[in-house]
Amino acid sequence: MSLQSVHSIAELRDTLSSMRRAGATIGLVPTMGALHAGHSRLIEQARQESGYVVVSIFVNPIQFDQKDDYTRYPRTLSTDLEFCQARSVDVVFAPAVEEIYPHPQRTFVEVTGVTEHLCGQFRPGHFRGVATVVLKLFNVVQPDRAYFGEKDAQQLAVIRHMVRELNLPVTIVEVATVREADGLAVSSRNQRLSPEQRRVATGLFQALQVAEKRIASGASSPDEIKLEALAILQQESQLRVEYLEIVDPDEMQPVDRIAGPVRVAAAVWIGSTRLIDNLLCKPV
Ligand code: PAJ
Repeated sequence: MSLQSVHSIAELRDTLSSMRRAGATIGLVPTMGALHAGHSRLIEQARQESGYVVVSIFVNPIQFDQKDDYTRYPRTLSTDLEFCQARSVDVVFAPAVEEIYPHPQRTFVEVTGVTEHLCGQFRPGHFRGVATVVLKLFNVVQPDRAYFGEKDAQQLAVIRHMVRELNLPVTIVEVATVREADGLAVSSRNQRLSPEQRRVATGLFQALQVAEKRIASGASSPDEIKLEALAILQQESQLRVEYLEIVDPDEMQPVDRIAGPVRVAAAVWIGSTRLIDNLLCKPV
């Protein structure tokens, strides 16, 4: 079957209700487009598990805390459609901003607690925008399953909390981070890096790996582990650390001692590009 590209909510609802009547399970992969190998892994998993696969492509204005980042965000719809066609996606939902926000948005989903630290601390309003648009997408698509990447672990925690606390009938599926050969997590923002900045960027994964090794060998003091990981990042003068934290994987709160699985998460700036990454680390 060939790919269908839909821009209106009404048309999408029509298509989906006939699929649902025919008994298909629906898998949703929410994205902002500029599709890459990370998105591909989510789509492949959805394809394996769902009868009907919907990919949404929508650069969501209300989750950007900086206007410049929103306007600079890559928009590559025609290549994204080919990308989806090649991966046997059934429908791409690519609405205009006015379709999702026809009126000023006055209703928001605020997930507290999990959004206090990490990106939540540095990007005011970001997760409110994410949770709000994802709830809208869930209401429009009514998927059985929705797929999210571990690369954005705090986003995943926000969605999980929202689904649990608002009793949403959708199963959230977590997909492992896809990395380049040198470990850098695949991201549309990597394209903005110069060759020299791209080399510097590998320090981010290396620092997380240092923390992972220390935790696996029994280190239990987050402060000591953070200092070692930060030392790796500080070797590169072009790299500025926004945060590096060791948090509880469900609540996303910094831990005092490491006694079980933790997530080591960091955000760095290289020039005007912000990169994030994280690793789930387990003590012996
Ligand atoms: P976007 O950045 O396009 O990412 C879409 C999905 O792809 C997210 O679940 C993200 O975690 C996942 N992803 C990105 N890079 C990945 C990688 N290297 N490996 C595995 N998965 C990866 O995240 C968003 O869009 C938006 O916030 C959205 C959820 C669509 C709401 O607007």
